[in-house]
Amino acid sequence: QEAHAAELERTFIAIKPDGVQRGLISEIISRFERKGFKLVAIKIVIPSKDFAEKHYHDLKTRPFFDGLCDFLSSGPVVAMVWEGEGVIKYGRKLIGATDPQKSEPGTIRGDLAVVVGRNIIHGSDGPETAKDEISLWFKPEELVAYTSNAEKWIY
Ligand code: PPS
Repeated sequence: QEAHAAELERTFIAIKPDGVQRGLISEIISRFERKGFKLVAIKIVIPSKDFAEKHYHDLKTRPFFDGLCDFLSSGPVVAMVWEGEGVIKYGRKLIGATDPQKSEPGTIRGDLAVVVGRNIIHGSDGPETAKDEISLWFKPEELVAYTSNAEKWIY
């Protein structure tokens, strides 16, 4: 309830166009929400190709870079910031391995996706990327700091 709420970790999570088109928005959000993580920013946008290239700039030299950027900019993306203790690492755990053929059942990709090029969700892979991605996708005023009633039962 008190002071530590402000110190909690944040990560950037995006439901990619395949997840949106397949009607998996609420399914994905509910997994993060039920875990005890807190949604502090959300919007739905169609990113430009240029923006997608910025988001994936680390992958510029990979053979799939162009296709991946085309894919991300092909339709609506649900961009979110989730907050909570260990949310960066545990968020990746909820998401599952990059290749859905290798992600465990019980994970988002393990349960809901089949191939790597259509793996429905993105999550920041570390604290630095989380910070960069949050500031790429959101203005500071789009992040909402609040105390939820559940918090005193979670922490
Ligand atoms: S790697 O190889 O470790 O850099 O890859 P990884 O960090 O796991 O993945 C980085 C993002 O690239 C996507 N990816 C692919 N897209 C299309 N085709 C292929 N073959 C492919 N391999 C990796 C992967 O889904 C990651 O995207 P996000 O959106 O971050 O999940």
